[in-house]
Amino acid sequence: MTIESTGYQSGFGNEFATEARAGTLPVGRNSPQRVAHGLYAEQISGTAFTAPRHQNRRSWFYRIRPAAMHGPFARFEGRAAGTFHNDFDTGPVSPDQMRWSPLPMPPEGERVDFLDGLFTMAGNGGASAGAGIGVHLYAANADMQGRWFYDADGELLIVPQQGRLHIETECGVLDVEPQEIAVIPRGIRFAVKLPDGQARGYVCENFGAHLRLPDLGPIGSNGLANPRDFLTPNAAFEDVEGDFELVAKFQGHLWRAGIGHSPIDVVAWHGNHAPYKYDLRRFNTIGSISFDHPDPSIFLVLTSPSDTPGVGNMDFVIFGPRILAMQDTLRPPWFHRNVASEFMGLVHGAYDAKAEGFAPGGASLHNCMTGHGPDAATFEKASNADLSRPDVITDTMAFMFEARAVIRPTRQAIDAAHRQRDYQACWTGLKKHFTA
Ligand SMILES: [Fe+2]
Repeated sequence: MTIESTGYQSGFGNEFATEARAGTLPVGRNSPQRVAHGLYAEQISGTAFTAPRHQNRRSWFYRIRPAAMHGPFARFEGRAAGTFHNDFDTGPVSPDQMRWSPLPMPPEGERVDFLDGLFTMAGNGGASAGAGIGVHLYAANADMQGRWFYDADGELLIVPQQGRLHIETECGVLDVEPQEIAVIPRGIRFAVKLPDGQARGYVCENFGAHLRLPDLGPIGSNGLANPRDFLTPNAAFEDVEGDFELVAKFQGHLWRAGIGHSPIDVVAWHGNHAPYKYDLRRFNTIGSISFDHPDPSIFLVLTSPSDTPGVGNMDFVIFGPRILAMQDTLRPPWFHRNVASEFMGLVHGAYDAKAEGFAPGGASLHNCMTGHGPDAATFEKASNADLSRPDVITDTMAFMFEARAVIRPTRQAIDAAHRQRDYQACWTGLKKHFTA
């Protein structure tokens, strides 16, 4: 049971229209009374009905069976029940800098799919608050077979680090590979299959306003992520019956219901509440060509705005290939403290602010007003670099989930064997150079 991709439609947040069988989409009248080919009409709304037009997200599905058809939900008892949750918003939280080695792959002989491979690292807020994020990693070695998942709590920004993902959604198929991202909107049902047998990566679960492209301000009309590079799948479906399961994430925890058919049965749809993918290598990077370097907001791919203008609930920022040509400055990211909180990951290559210890698949957390920056080895090297020629950085793709609220690590992340308990030692080698 694999649904092949039927291609993509280009654009961000457009009113898409696609049909896997000709003549399915109604033209003019919406026609929910009698849909072509004996299908049911069903709407999914991702925003309040009355949200302003430029923010409003909804789609109409023309499907074999309505979403209401499944058995009663009971608490999910699989592997992910203990590891994938939103239990991060209580108790004291340490301001320590934290770093983790890559999440280990599942043990040999244990079958772990994308859902069961999710491991919650940190987060803030929650579904009932309508703000905040959950930060998760996944490590998996098996396809989701006869199992579909949806997240009622937030949209999912998936950042693969190792292994491709074949994501079968109600709206169609997304094939994504490392250095690409996928976004699955709130409520959309999907299954993940692993063409390479194994996969690892990061997930940001966004409880706030849906992700959108940032305004460009003085940058002008070009630069950063271009709308045409965002791809939404064409309709694709399967007509399969069996003894299957539907897993829901609802109010921070997982629930399971029996379902007698594949919910990937949408033959045609139109609207803008739909999944999409984006190739991070297409990002048009902007930077300084004089002195110093601008804030990392110039590397912003997508933002979830908060109710305060200019302050993101979550900003997704990448540090990809670029040319550093600034003069009279320390070129790597400088030492800093922010009101925002930063969760970082590395998809590929090396990150220019750390000499070692931050491996692809690893993660770091620098919370509100916690000092951080280049490690001692990087500072030493950058202080003596030849600034008469540019640094051409080619082999890297790091990213940051930057949040307005403190990103609180979970107990399992703090206790994890792969947490680097000596992380702060990377700054202890910074020498005192001061002379009176
Ligand atoms: Fe930082």
